[in-house]
Amino acid sequence: MSESLKSITPPNDWAVDSWTRREALQQAKYDDPDQLAAAQARLSRLPPLVTSWEILSLKEQVAEAQAGKRFFLQGGDCAEVFDECSPSIITNRLKVLLQMSLVMVHGMEMPVVRVGRFAGQYAKPRSDDFETRGEDRLPSYRGDIVNAPDFTAESRRPDPERMLQAYARSAMSMNFVRALVDGGFADLHHPEYWDLGWVEHSPLAEQFHRIADSIGHSVRFMETVTGQTPGSVRRVDFFTSHEALHLNYEQALTRQVPRQWGWFNLSTHFPWIGMRTAALEGAHVEMFRGIRNPIGIKVGPGMTADWLKGLIRTLNPDDEAGRIVLIHRMGAGKVGDTLPGLIEAVKATGSPVLWIADPMHGNTEKTASGYKTRRFDNIQAELEQAFDIHAASGSRLGGVHLELTGENVTECIGGARELGEDDLKRAYKTTVDPRLNYEQALELSMLIVGKHRSLMG
Ligand code: PEP
Ligand code: CO
Repeated sequence: MSESLKSITPPNDWAVDSWTRREALQQAKYDDPDQLAAAQARLSRLPPLVTSWEILSLKEQVAEAQAGKRFFLQGGDCAEVFDECSPSIITNRLKVLLQMSLVMVHGMEMPVVRVGRFAGQYAKPRSDDFETRGEDRLPSYRGDIVNAPDFTAESRRPDPERMLQAYARSAMSMNFVRALVDGGFADLHHPEYWDLGWVEHSPLAEQFHRIADSIGHSVRFMETVTGQTPGSVRRVDFFTSHEALHLNYEQALTRQVPRQWGWFNLSTHFPWIGMRTAALEGAHVEMFRGIRNPIGIKVGPGMTADWLKGLIRTLNPDDEAGRIVLIHRMGAGKVGDTLPGLIEAVKATGSPVLWIADPMHGNTEKTASGYKTRRFDNIQAELEQAFDIHAASGSRLGGVHLELTGENVTECIGGARELGEDDLKRAYKTTVDPRLNYEQALELSMLIVGKHRSLMG
């Protein structure tokens, strides 16, 4: 046990299944409890997807971000789908995140914590348990870990076997990401490895290449001066995250490990609690209370100061650094009214948190033609206000949480290429929420850097 962790007390009234005695919202309703129990038991005997020392290393990085020494970049699909566990989709997503982080490292002059919304982002909360089309009423699609999106009784039946399929695909994605990163894909000598062909003619390409060239020069300069290549130049850390919504799945991968006290959720480095399942007395908070991972909590416009203080007290009773990341997602029109009071409330607890902004989930709208979309302008506006509000409150916005993809999709409106409503039909692929495409994501990272620098003076 390291010095800084000595004062932490493990919860003694917690068990890996104590969540089952609380109300669990947003869970699949399986029709065969024995089949569910058998699948969960099989899952609990399989190897973990991540290790406790990776989780503790992320916790240290989050603690550094809380101290203002790192910026936190979390991004990926709203919902991963089984069919998209493919090499090109995985590498393209990794490329975008690497490029964005490179822009940030360069512009903010500080290291970036890179966290993908992937290798497990398969469970989705829904506003309704059922979906009705005409005369037909079927269970809602809850993500590929539960059922399939086609509107047929067979596809929509929650199937426990899908937990094992989700686990397998998470493992395959993890394995490929680890191999790429270890193999030099993220080598700072070769930022061209991460170029995505279709943006060659992008209005942003030139700016990005200037940044990449400048980093290449700095790396070679350092090597020439010191005569060494630091290991971190060849290999970057990459962490995974998902909404830990499906509690049977999360329980099966929550384990004890040799030579560590307590329990770890070994399905991912960074699980988060979604907006709809953050009730203080609810099953999700109970589950999260007993694990040692750093955790995210989504904070929406309905959050109250007392509720948030209760969450911090329950989930971080020892005020441990690196434990809590608060992900606010208010919407461009609401952030100004809702955020300042919550920042003050958290400050009054004296407990360390990292505040990051999710400018996606409060800015979802439907077009006249029925597409769920988000406007780049609103995303940017929420982010810029968030930076200003934190600065004005003597707090700090330490990161962002984005839904994005490396594919050339047209799901969000606006950005440098000025996608309009008519463009949405061209490449609208998401099964749940609209994502920034590669170019929009890169543009946003440049705007974030500009805003950060303007606040630094
Ligand atoms: C999500 O991150 O995809 C999500 C459902 O977010 P929220 O819980 O903030 O609505
Ligand atoms: Co989403």
